Amino acid sequence: MTNEIKICMGSSCFARGNEQNLEFIEKYIKENKLEAKIEVFGARCENICEKGPNVIINDTIYNNVTIEKLTEELRKLN
Ligand code: FES
Repeated sequence: MTNEIKICMGSSCFARGNEQNLEFIEKYIKENKLEAKIEVFGARCENICEKGPNVIINDTIYNNVTIEKLTEELRKLN
């Protein structure tokens, strides 16, 4: 199954941490050779900026996403 990760690229989420989160996800995918299993997309602002940075993994919205949180969720997709 292919997993979908959508990263909000709106200016608020981007400034609040999604710039680093995106870099981290791309590095994680490369290092773990998960290119065939995980697809990464940029998303538009979902109007939940105050809870950002927001990342959607397989239709679940995660708020206040940190690298620690991402590591935890990415491990589950392995
Ligand atoms: S910028 Fe991400 S929800 Fe608005």
